Amino acid sequence: MSDGSSNHSISVPYFDSLPQKFSEGDVDALLAFGRHLHWGYWSDPTKADGSVADFAIAAENLSRLVTDVAEIQDGLSILDVGCGFGGTIASLNERFCSMHLVGININTEQLLRAETTVQALPNNHIKFVDADACQLPFSDDYFDVVLAVESIFAFSSREYFFREARRILRPGGRLTICDFIPIQAFYRTWKLIEKATKTLVVRTYGSRSVNFCPLFEYKKLASATGFELVKTENITRNTLPTYPVVNSLMRREGDEETYRATRGLERLSRRGLLQYMILSFQISPS
Ligand SMILES: C[S@@+](CC[C@H](N)C(=O)[O-])C[C@H]1O[C@@H](n2cnc3c(N)ncnc32)[C@H](O)[C@@H]1O
Repeated sequence: MSDGSSNHSISVPYFDSLPQKFSEGDVDALLAFGRHLHWGYWSDPTKADGSVADFAIAAENLSRLVTDVAEIQDGLSILDVGCGFGGTIASLNERFCSMHLVGININTEQLLRAETTVQALPNNHIKFVDADACQLPFSDDYFDVVLAVESIFAFSSREYFFREARRILRPGGRLTICDFIPIQAFYRTWKLIEKATKTLVVRTYGSRSVNFCPLFEYKKLASATGFELVKTENITRNTLPTYPVVNSLMRREGDEETYRATRGLERLSRRGLLQYMILSFQISPS
């Protein structure tokens, strides 16, 4: 296991290329990823129409679903870890009031876009901070809810992140995440083939490895760090229409490596070996 130490030099090749695409006027890239850097959620996936505009709505719906699972309401203090371009913070800002919203990211270019595009509505406060998920620069008992929307797999250590989240959450606080979670039987096989795919994944998504964590490991992690898993939503089926849209954007842009890695995720997801889940953890009563 990694020591969870800060590493501001991690690059995320695919996401790093987006600001340039935006500045070159790539309308589809901007619509697909200008606000959210995550998959879409369709309550009825048979109604997905395959367009980029439909995907953008579904990406907003994923943020809303995660924040609903976290039971967010007016007046709370929320930390979004690995906040991308600030899309989930923007969504919370538009839906709730008297909010104290903080997004952190290790990627300064993404933070810059978040700061320039997401403006606090009256009565809300928003701050974006350059920080590592495993070394959170906040005092103890500071937030009501910690979110990590499709970002935890990139952190250097889930354990350090959970410990930090536990430290900065107030009593009764919640940690809500979404992640690609392998079923237990596949996880054993995955450990065997992980090495073979590592190079492609690092070049594409920039993480040290795919770093999957099965549900039984999440439960162990929760109990070792002072949490209990209180909600599990398997929304794999509702996210599948993401793939045709994202695949065709990558193909069109000639981004062959990202396309291949994402096709791999798609195959595993369609076969039911990888599940897209929202998990919500509550601080264990002491
Ligand atoms: C797939 S993107 C998701 C972004 C955002 N949560 C969203 O849903 O739009 C993963 C994000 O995690 C950020 N990230 C990766 N490692 C991180 C770390 N150690 N600490 C903070 N953020 C990190 C990346 O820069 C990127 O913004």
